[in-house]
Amino acid sequence: MDGIQDLRAKYLEQIAGAAGAEALEGVRLAALGKKGEISLMMRELGKMTPDERQVAGPALNGLKDEIDSALKARKVALDDAALDERLKAEWLDVTLPGRPRPRGTIHPVSQVTEECTAIFADMGFRVAEGPQIETDWYNFDALNIAPEHPARQEHDTFFMHRAAGDNRPPHVLRTHTSPVQIRAMQDQGAPIRVIAPGRVYRMDMDQTHAPMFHQIEGMAIDRDISMANLKWVLEEFFTAYFGTKVKTRFRASHFPFTEPSAEVDIQCSWVNGQLRVGEGDGWLEVLGSGMMHPKVLQAGGIDPDQWQGFAFGMGIDRMAMLKYGIPDLRAFFESDLRWLRHYGFGALEAPTVHAG
Ligand code: DAH
Repeated sequence: MDGIQDLRAKYLEQIAGAAGAEALEGVRLAALGKKGEISLMMRELGKMTPDERQVAGPALNGLKDEIDSALKARKVALDDAALDERLKAEWLDVTLPGRPRPRGTIHPVSQVTEECTAIFADMGFRVAEGPQIETDWYNFDALNIAPEHPARQEHDTFFMHRAAGDNRPPHVLRTHTSPVQIRAMQDQGAPIRVIAPGRVYRMDMDQTHAPMFHQIEGMAIDRDISMANLKWVLEEFFTAYFGTKVKTRFRASHFPFTEPSAEVDIQCSWVNGQLRVGEGDGWLEVLGSGMMHPKVLQAGGIDPDQWQGFAFGMGIDRMAMLKYGIPDLRAFFESDLRWLRHYGFGALEAPTVHAG
């Protein structure tokens, strides 16, 4: 059977030339598939005489085995080549230095809010919250700031737009965190000890003012709370916050929501233009405070004949500037990455909170 040699040559050449698994499968089907050329020839064996079959049978079987082995060998070779390709493509230099992943920092406002919250929590103050869009009743009236009161103008209030015919009470962007006093009293009654950190808004913009900034409000109401408790709490707070004993100075002042009212200064000195809190004989004003006005207690649903309390409010951003030596308030809210990297805190950097 001369044909066998031809077939052998033809298929071995096709197998060697098959460029991929698919082509190889094509060759297999053409040769050994059900209707493949060699399969069909083997079916012809039945029609041969025994003599012919004795010659053709082994020759065809040999051919079939040879083609089969060649197919398998080629498949292994193709698989190996594919693997080599992949290994080359996925080659990894484990000696390369690691790629740094961009990591954000914690904003000084967040950091300082955490620090303040932790210190006041130690003194039994819980965090209270209120909305940033307030009714003018919560923001002003309930705090004894009458409509004609000059404080109402001084606050440079942002008023929310009201469509004609909208009869809801006027809403404002809260100008201070003091309205949270009223909400906390209404929610929790007396006795109560809360702080309320949060955003406040005023139409003001220069190096020390931004239209949005942060305050922290404090309030303690009980049967015999006095100015002395206020002074102790604040000195304890500043000492823990700055990590050094800080004296306070109370100056008589006026706020509609407190009577008496005091502005509080902390002891400090300037050495070569640098501020040092807790030393020297300079004073720096840091917050407003006082004994809560009876009308404010009443607005919160608390009987001023039974209860009294102190309240205070201070700027968080300013606290951050003082502790971490940050010069310009406006930069706090500009999202400049260089600033954020410089003044921001790492996620695992624990705030330095010292026991008093
Ligand atoms: N709400 C005042 C402000 O934004 C700060 C303040 C002063 C809060 C005296 C108080 C307080 O609770 O007693 O200027």
